[in-house]
Amino acid sequence: MIADTRADFRSDTVTRATPAMREAMAAAEVGDDVYGEDPTVNELQDRLADMAGKEAALYFPTATQGNLAAVLSHCRRGDEYLIGRNYHILLNEASGTSALGGAAPWPIDVDENGSITPEAVRSAVKEEDQHHPVTRLLCLENTVNGSAQPVDLIDDLASTARELGLAVHLDGARLFNAAVALDVPIAALLDGVDTASICLSKGLGAPIGAVLVGDAQTIGRAFRLRKMLGGGMRQVGHTAAAALYGLDHHVDRLSTDHEHARLIAEGFRQIDGLGVTQATNMVWLTPPAEHSEALAAHLLADGILVCAWQPTMRIVTHLDVGPGHAEMLIDSVRAFFEDIGQDGRP
Ligand SMILES: Cc1ncc(COP(=O)(O)O)c(C=O)c1O
Repeated sequence: MIADTRADFRSDTVTRATPAMREAMAAAEVGDDVYGEDPTVNELQDRLADMAGKEAALYFPTATQGNLAAVLSHCRRGDEYLIGRNYHILLNEASGTSALGGAAPWPIDVDENGSITPEAVRSAVKEEDQHHPVTRLLCLENTVNGSAQPVDLIDDLASTARELGLAVHLDGARLFNAAVALDVPIAALLDGVDTASICLSKGLGAPIGAVLVGDAQTIGRAFRLRKMLGGGMRQVGHTAAAALYGLDHHVDRLSTDHEHARLIAEGFRQIDGLGVTQATNMVWLTPPAEHSEALAAHLLADGILVCAWQPTMRIVTHLDVGPGHAEMLIDSVRAFFEDIGQDGRP
């Protein structure tokens, strides 16, 4: 947190390792992971492959690198992949797939839950023709901006993709949030997908890391790409131990984050004039446009950090947010609107 911050709702990436997690990190048995000799990394990979119902898994420093290696494992230069138009790989990973691998995204419209339809996938695939790129891959995401994508939809999209000869990769940065919200094991959400990256530094609270799961052949290609991208790491059993600790202790508690988000949304809904939506651990707040900047400044002055995007702010709950923080946020927003004078100025 920044000096006088009282609550940080910008992202679930801001958590710091708990004392117990730090103990697990310090006690980890380690080896050189580039040689495949780190027992704790191997344990993490085996564990997540098993939980995901996949043959193999590979530890990455970040989910961005895991996604990049996955897309490039599926696509050759000049291929295209289909992806929801607001998905992270397309908007927030610095166009790595195009810049470094020559694989171009083809954006597909999403509905208000961030979902794409099988029909949209069907109509986006290019027919075979010398003029067109080869459509090779469908990229999904779960959750999308907090919205859990249900098992049936993923299954439908995956079987459509397979029928069309496409592989499927899923960005599961918050897959455990989806699994907890839908009350299903992660394997159920990954049944039809070929590869998925699962982030460890968000809801699970580890300081770093993601694991890519999939079939042995694709993970083998990703292994080489990881090296090429500079992601071959050494004694990273210490950080893998944090992730194992998170898997043991921080999965079921994600429902607490979802409950805090629900409480925040409920509090906001008692205040006139606010647009509010909530899904899993994210709350989206749209204040009247004329008050947006002043509200952001007011929250900051109160020591409360949010993503003060316009027109809609993002508020994310996580391991370091308690019910007191949720109330502090609601009270601060309420006080701001109560203080607005007759002339509409705060
Ligand atoms: C949906 C989604 N995918 C991927 C990532 C990338 O994760 P990392 O920061 O580990 O590269 C993020 C990070 O915020 C994300 O929100």
